[in-house]
Amino acid sequence: MTNPIEKPALAPSQVLDRVLVLEMVRVTEYAAIAASRMVGRGDEKAADSAAVEAMRDALNRLAFDGTVVIGEGERDEAPMLYIGEKVGSAIGSGPKIDIALDPLEGTTITAKAGPNALAVLAIAEEGGLLNAPDTYMDKLAIGPGHPEGLVSLTRSATENVQALADAKGVAPSDIIACVLDRPRHEALIRELRSLGCGIVLIPDGDVAGVIAVTDPETTIDIYMGSGGAPEGVLAAAALRCVGGQFQGRLVFRNEDEKQRARKLGITDLDRIYHLEDLARGDVIFAATGVTDGSLLDGVKRYKNGRITTHSVVMRASSGTVRWVKGDRRGDPKHG
Ligand code: FBP
Repeated sequence: MTNPIEKPALAPSQVLDRVLVLEMVRVTEYAAIAASRMVGRGDEKAADSAAVEAMRDALNRLAFDGTVVIGEGERDEAPMLYIGEKVGSAIGSGPKIDIALDPLEGTTITAKAGPNALAVLAIAEEGGLLNAPDTYMDKLAIGPGHPEGLVSLTRSATENVQALADAKGVAPSDIIACVLDRPRHEALIRELRSLGCGIVLIPDGDVAGVIAVTDPETTIDIYMGSGGAPEGVLAAAALRCVGGQFQGRLVFRNEDEKQRARKLGITDLDRIYHLEDLARGDVIFAATGVTDGSLLDGVKRYKNGRITTHSVVMRASSGTVRWVKGDRRGDPKHG
């Protein structure tokens, strides 16, 4: 993964203590290990519940006053880690922190033992993360090192691919795009194929898909198409740390979804969000692989009880990216 050495330094937050960087890995590790028991077991709900419970438990051990701003759904839809839920062991006295989380990003992938399932979260100072509604978001992302605005959601896929190809000094047919494999992307896929682009069609998991554009090893140049808006905020938080460009625009399928957005304080429903609009100020992003993927290896559970994990944790103010390998003699104790 590229380090954003060209990015100007950002003042570290006084609220996001550096100790939290490693604490966040512990939280995503717990969730990933819990979910890993359910890999390939065909039960999406059980996998998700295990991850949610473990992540909540780990968050509640931390001495902060946390608020879930992106979570498992609204209060009446999710029993745990719902939007607005307070977490941490110092509510009312500790540092106020906003949390965007997805204890299991890729529930179907996990159930089928497919690639790229993650336990993931991002934290920022209060007000630093967009309270995104649970709708779709059109997403466009490229890696670091390009002039701002090289690609835009206001332009066609063809124009964006052409601009990126010119900037890279290659033909449009050399560009590799990552797109969620969905019927709603038929026209986009047709357009990209007409340009001769390579398309990495992913079954699920667009947080990893977006982050892949920042890693030359993946050879993915651009991410395009719509996916979950909450996942868009999480991916944006990661790109704030490692560099790259991201744009997102909420997609509403009906009036109810528009209402959900308004309830969260969104007034301009057509707004194009840039990185700073989605994740402001200092941000810490952490993820642990549940199954093997482009970003991380999955949890390995050995027959003798040994459990290994692979995580990444990054911070926007320093641009530091740490890869963390965990090795345990059994499941962590909860409660
Ligand atoms: P879940 O973990 O909630 O199953 O989300 C997986 C995911 O693929 C996300 O990565 C993506 O943003 C979203 O679902 C796409 O939604 P849909 O499956 O409705 O196209």
